[in-house]
Amino acid sequence: MAKLLPLSLSLCFLLFSGCFAFREQAHAQQQHQNDFKCQLQRLNAHKPDHRIESEGGFIETWNPNTKPFQCAGVALSRCTLQRNALRRPFYTNAPQQIYIQQGSGIFGMIFSGCPETFEEPQQSQSHKAQDRHQKVYRFREGDLIAVPTGVAFWMYNDEDTPVVAVSLIHTDSFQNQLDQMPRRFYLAGNQEQEFAQYQHSQKGKQQEEENDGSNIFSGFTPEFLEQALGVDRKTVRNLQGENEDEEKGAIVKVEGGLSVTAPPMRKQQQRPQEEEEEEDDEEKSRSKGKGSHKSKNGIEETICTMRLRHNIGQTSSPDFFNPQAGSITTATSLDFPALFLLKLSAQFGSLRKNAMLVPHYNLNANSIVCVLQGRALMQVVNCTGDRVFDGELQEGEVLIVPQNFAVAAKSQSNNFKYVAFKTHDRPKTGTLAGRNSLLNALPEEVIQHSFNLRSEQARQIKNNNPFNFLVPPRQESQRRDVA
Ligand SMILES: *[C@@H]1O[C@H](CO)[C@@H](O)[C@H](O)[C@H]1NC(C)=O
Repeated sequence: MAKLLPLSLSLCFLLFSGCFAFREQAHAQQQHQNDFKCQLQRLNAHKPDHRIESEGGFIETWNPNTKPFQCAGVALSRCTLQRNALRRPFYTNAPQQIYIQQGSGIFGMIFSGCPETFEEPQQSQSHKAQDRHQKVYRFREGDLIAVPTGVAFWMYNDEDTPVVAVSLIHTDSFQNQLDQMPRRFYLAGNQEQEFAQYQHSQKGKQQEEENDGSNIFSGFTPEFLEQALGVDRKTVRNLQGENEDEEKGAIVKVEGGLSVTAPPMRKQQQRPQEEEEEEDDEEKSRSKGKGSHKSKNGIEETICTMRLRHNIGQTSSPDFFNPQAGSITTATSLDFPALFLLKLSAQFGSLRKNAMLVPHYNLNANSIVCVLQGRALMQVVNCTGDRVFDGELQEGEVLIVPQNFAVAAKSQSNNFKYVAFKTHDRPKTGTLAGRNSLLNALPEEVIQHSFNLRSEQARQIKNNNPFNFLVPPRQESQRRDVA
């Protein structure tokens, strides 16, 4: 017995240290994986790999645990809303950009502490109390919507065309102080949040372990909520998502349509952006002027009335335009100040058949390219000069182009359209060919000796492509050989 004790002690010690060593090894392995998450042998075109049906539509997600997504520190999902469908309010642990690929409707965001500036008219006869709520915005195709971290968001489709909204969450943002897992906190319903399944699979648990998610009210005891809201038990049950006959999901159908206090829909939806923005600005300055003789409450100047949508779709004033090649429009924090909070930006581009985006790279951002329409050949090259992607990117597919990796594209259809989300609010691009490119900025002699060329060849490299960023289809007549 006396001999057994030390033996078992040492055995125990051995076991423990073994266990610790194992854990350390696992930890180191994960650390190792994290350290090299951008060591990408090969990039892929990603399709959504999961779809959750709801009463009023569905949500598709891309697996955020794949290496390119981990490298870029982002999570992507796409939500489709049928007519009269309401996406229940939720907030997210990281900043988010939503691009409206199709359709139109209204959305709202709840900023804690901001006043309820939309008021229902007072009706003296009615017993119904007057409703007030925070600002409601209208959105249309081509809009980029900025959703700051932790701000509750909802949206609604009031038209026949289904709304398709692509949403990018920047989980690697400094504003997310949790881990890299995208987390939706639903205010209502009892659906599982759309990224939860990836968390399960990451932990190595079984997929079947159906975790019927609930909303943030569900976890509190009814007594707490009864007192906090001053309502009865039955109402509390609804708040907790418990009185639903069947699971409606994150998108619910509103029978007869939603009625919120909002200005009437504008007739000409396709008005050019400038007009719309000018009008917005005009309205703002008018309200400021009016208030100037009274004491200001200051809300005109704050986040409460900030512009949260900006159209980058087919606009009349793109940033790059060539009728034979296509156009590109970028929203940065300079033209869309809300992006300053998010530290994100986005670019919309459309290319004619056989037109090219010259080889270029993003100096300060990862780029998440989502194809909206058509298809294009794309090539991506890493720092060792290896082609890590060489293939066709089609509608609905996503390619992640990490920072500084070089990328070029050639459209294969007459109307190739994409939106590229970027992880910087003022992204910079460096081109490797054409006017204003890196090569153009180098002295001819440096080119000559760096590439071992004759001087006229160096001059050709600098001068032969007169285009900026978009190169039209190559035609024999356009070849101007400086021989
Ligand atoms: C570049 O890509 C090649 C080909 O996949 C790969 O072998 C190499 O490790 C990559 N280089 C770096 C530094 O990631």
